[in-house]
Amino acid sequence: MMEEVVPGKPPEYALKNVLCVNCHSNTDRDTIKILGGVRVPVVYNSVKPVKPLSGGNFYYVAKDFGDRRGHNVEGIIPPGANLRGTPPGYDRESDPSIIGYNSKKPLTCAGSNGCHGNRNVGDPFTAIMGAHHADDSPVDGITTAKSYRYLKNTNKIKGVLGMEDEDWERNSSPKKHNEYPMTINNLCASCHGDFHSKDKVGKGSPWFRHPTGVTLPKSGEYMNYNPDVSPPPDRPDIRIYSLGAPVARETIPESVSDEVNPGKDIVICLSCHVAHAGPYESALRWDYDAMISGEEGKGGCFICHTGKAE
Ligand code: HEC
Ligand code: HEC
Ligand code: HEC
Ligand code: HEC
Repeated sequence: MMEEVVPGKPPEYALKNVLCVNCHSNTDRDTIKILGGVRVPVVYNSVKPVKPLSGGNFYYVAKDFGDRRGHNVEGIIPPGANLRGTPPGYDRESDPSIIGYNSKKPLTCAGSNGCHGNRNVGDPFTAIMGAHHADDSPVDGITTAKSYRYLKNTNKIKGVLGMEDEDWERNSSPKKHNEYPMTINNLCASCHGDFHSKDKVGKGSPWFRHPTGVTLPKSGEYMNYNPDVSPPPDRPDIRIYSLGAPVARETIPESVSDEVNPGKDIVICLSCHVAHAGPYESALRWDYDAMISGEEGKGGCFICHTGKAE
């Protein structure tokens, strides 16, 4: 689709992206709003949200916290401020999109410069066309509607699978949450390929690159995953799922599980990051600086790196 750029006017894709943002925003603290009798998942509250959804909340990039707390999406942070160019670690070869990421344009919700829908289409609305009113189950990745949270990447490849919590994790617990497959990493890798490829992982600069897509070993400290919560006496061999460091499943279970099984479950980008934005730098689930300086001895990295061998 051709884009018409009229001097002095925002380009078409920008106007359309604002429509996604507006419908998925709220001026009060609730993260699910009702519009025409339909529940809308809210990803951007203009005041501090209560119970942010699973992706976090763009409140934290829109406010005066700097732009390091998540994805700077067009229509949420002021024009200009969100143009940070190429995604960190972008590797064209890991991006299946024909168009590719255009660093001269801002990040949008959907389309070639976005995460949702078909990234072979520039226009955010066309990219997720039909998904909203379609029957979206089962989640088989064949269409955008039937991909986990409309995460399809491109029409040629299978969309992300997963189990969608019906409240988008507004009221989540170890027994009630989304279930992720390892392939959700590929979605992130399409714009951050260098964070994903095995040979680039390690402690080397410029960024901390943690092994991703690896199985939680069935040995040593990992056997004690989520040390704060002991497994019930009738299931001594499992660990309890932590919302502070979610893991992916080899295969998506039939129903949500509160178990984590070292030797099976997998580290993903979302074990440490939220997809949208959150209260901490680098869109992390916790305060990394406090953690490495030893101010915080619990949670975060220590959910997996328990330092204790059983
Ligand atoms: C369509 C491309 C695209 C996809 C897909 C994408 N990102 Fe990003 N990401 C960006 C861009 C552009 C930036 C840099 C500007 C910004 O912060 O918004 C960025 C920045 C980031 C940052 C740094 C944020 C900061 O401000 O320090 C993290 C962390 C991140 N992405 C993680 C992820 C994860 C995890 C996924 C998968 C769930 C993902 N990204 C998927 C484009 C993308
Ligand atoms: C008129 C309001 C409206 C607009 C505009 C809108 N949405 Fe939505 N969106 C909704 C509602 C309502 C739902 C929840 C219903 C559902 O899950 O089908 C939803 C659900 C979603 C979901 C979650 C799907 C899931 O599996 O739970 C995503 C992702 C999404 N929208 C993305 C977008 C993007 C990207 C755009 C812009 C291209 C957009 N929306 C524009 C109302 C809107
Ligand atoms: C075990 C935790 C962990 C996992 C898993 C992880 N990251 Fe990170 N990531 C971090 C930390 C910690 C930082 C901040 C590093 C720093 O500030 O030095 C970071 C930073 C980033 C940044 C920001 C770089 C910048 O320029 O600011 C991006 C982008 C990113 N990660 C993407 C990813 C992607 C994509 C994946 C999955 C392929 C992933 N991360 C998996 C912990 C993790
Ligand atoms: C979801 C679980 C999980 C979380 C959270 C986690 N790690 Fe890891 N970490 C692992 C696994 C699994 C390995 C790989 C172990 C193996 O293969 O032997 C690993 C390996 C490492 C390594 C060895 C690096 C290498 O290249 O092999 C370092 C260092 C590390 N983690 C640091 C961190 C830090 C710092 C954090 C917090 C920012 C963190 N981890 C959070 C699971 C996790």
